[in-house]
Amino acid sequence: MYKILEAKELTENIYLMVVNAKRVADSCLPGQFVIVRTHETSERIPLTICDYDREKGTVTIVFQVVGAGTKFMSELKEGDSFHDFVGPLGVPSELVTAPVSETSAKSILFVAGGVGTAPVYPQVKWLHEHGIKADVIVGSKTHDLLILEKEMESVAGNLYVTTDDGSYGRSGMVTKVIEDLVKTEGKHYDVCVAIGPMIMMKFVCKLTKELNLPTVVSLNPIMVDGTGMCGACRVTVGDKVKFACVDGPEFDGHIVNFDEAMKRQTLYKTEEGRRFLEAKEGNTHHGGCGNC
Ligand code: NAD
Ligand code: FES
Repeated sequence: MYKILEAKELTENIYLMVVNAKRVADSCLPGQFVIVRTHETSERIPLTICDYDREKGTVTIVFQVVGAGTKFMSELKEGDSFHDFVGPLGVPSELVTAPVSETSAKSILFVAGGVGTAPVYPQVKWLHEHGIKADVIVGSKTHDLLILEKEMESVAGNLYVTTDDGSYGRSGMVTKVIEDLVKTEGKHYDVCVAIGPMIMMKFVCKLTKELNLPTVVSLNPIMVDGTGMCGACRVTVGDKVKFACVDGPEFDGHIVNFDEAMKRQTLYKTEEGRRFLEAKEGNTHHGGCGNC
């Protein structure tokens, strides 16, 4: 059992929890994720790691309530426990696994949208701890929905906050800020990392392709086993089929088929949709995990 040491609502429907998970905290790196279950028979919920403390043996997760599983999770309090807390899963961010001298030679721009700010934070923090300053754009619909601003401010080189409705910071979506920084303010970046809703990553990539700015995205398709066996998280990257849980979650955003990924996300929610995918894609459930 994995005890919840801290639980709080960051803003409407978005929660932060600090969980006692020593083995995950010992070995996780920015970019990786965990799969949690509140009790033995509950659904598996994949969540990117927001922070970790190796000394205390804790991992911080941030999640948005989107259905029954996350609603139940949001009702857990300090002192309650998760039944499973499996990880670290996925491949760590290339920025933190490449030699520091290589990463520090790059001018890096992070683009975080809404809840996607949570998985961006540990990457920027890691870079900060290694003396690398990255610029960060954080976009949220309104000021009320903005999360982790202070935390991000303390680790970012420059932080650009923008709200869709102009209620705080700059006004407009993250793509407008990228255009302003690069086209109007003449900033140069070698690499962009965009994490947020699929539609945001799609449009960020459309723009950065025009700007000739290589872009990494972190995909969060529906996942079941998280070990590459069930096929639920299948995505097309270039002309290759990839599984976000083991090949990702980070991919070259310029060759991700976002339209297919978004369509699959919708279809996977219904039994009929899953049958449609099986007929179209074949039985990708090659590992026989028995869960989907
Ligand atoms: P949101 O809808 O509030 O959007 C956040 C920001 O993204 C907006 O403020 C805007 O700046 C930008 N954006 C949205 N649509 C855009 C578009 N068409 N063009 C350009 N920019 C656009 O985000 P939210 O409600 O916090 O997001 C929830 C979604 O994020 C969920 O679907 C969740 O699964 C996903 N998510 C993804 C990750 C990941 O690892 N990729 C992590 C956490 C959450
Ligand atoms: Fe990735 Fe099952 S969740 S293959």
